Amino acid sequence: MATLNDPTFRRITELMYGAVGLSFADGKKPLVSSRLGPRIQRLGLDSYEDYLALIEGPEDGGEFQVAVDLLTTNETYFFREPAHYALLEAELSATRPRSLSVWSAASSFGDEAYSTAMLLADLQQQGRIGSDWRILGTDISDRVLRSATEAIYPLERLRMVTPERLHRHCLRGEGASDGLVQIHPRLRERVRFGQLNLCRPVESIGPFDVIFLRNVLIYFDPTTKSEVVDRVLTQLRPGGLFFIGTAEGRVPCRTPLQVLAPGAFRKDGA
Ligand SMILES: C[S@@+](CC[C@H](N)C(=O)[O-])C[C@H]1O[C@@H](n2cnc3c(N)ncnc32)[C@H](O)[C@@H]1O
Repeated sequence: MATLNDPTFRRITELMYGAVGLSFADGKKPLVSSRLGPRIQRLGLDSYEDYLALIEGPEDGGEFQVAVDLLTTNETYFFREPAHYALLEAELSATRPRSLSVWSAASSFGDEAYSTAMLLADLQQQGRIGSDWRILGTDISDRVLRSATEAIYPLERLRMVTPERLHRHCLRGEGASDGLVQIHPRLRERVRFGQLNLCRPVESIGPFDVIFLRNVLIYFDPTTKSEVVDRVLTQLRPGGLFFIGTAEGRVPCRTPLQVLAPGAFRKDGA
């Protein structure tokens, strides 16, 4: 069994920090070792040094991406933190926008983007918003984005979805086997996915009326957190809504924000 020594741990964490902003304190060596160890064994490599050489190399065959996936968690589920969806519903019911553009900025498998699509489709059907709405989901991981585009989910991940919504917006049987559902094409056509590293400059992809940046800031150190938040907020319209994970605490940033509820903000200047 390979052993992770301090210098190699530091080189791995420097590589991850420089490329994707992931920050690991010294105490995280056991975590890094336990996440990468089984992968090193599966690849038949002898050491963490060999693995580092592989993910540093110009032709890593996608292994760098695998390492990022192993060191982060893609955990997500439909209607996670339901108070945020309730706030969004109340806001849209009050303002009744004719068009709406939403960004799920660390979308993982797409649960957040499709939850929002279910909500918006229902509000449109009730005449509370117009028909011109669309959603963009982005993530650093190819693997989760491929899965998000397929939009097939174990029912367990939709445990917070009401039975009526499940019935209206998901397909069972055709295109999905037992215990799985697929999001209806009617919703899928409203949602696009693309790869985007939040730690690199973001080209102009907005402006958005609503941005979710939930449960990703936990991986970044305080400086990177603020930079990422300010960068993402350049894509939000003045007056737009911004959501982070409720467990992510107060995130200092230069962009003026009004606090609406835990993890929910409005950008100043509407
Ligand atoms: C725990 S999931 C959050 C999913 C969803 N937003 C939610 O709250 O349920 C965190 C996601 O952040 C992505 N991620 C990590 N670092 C990133 C970066 N630098 N740029 C973009 N996405 C990143 C991971 O690939 C992962 O899918």
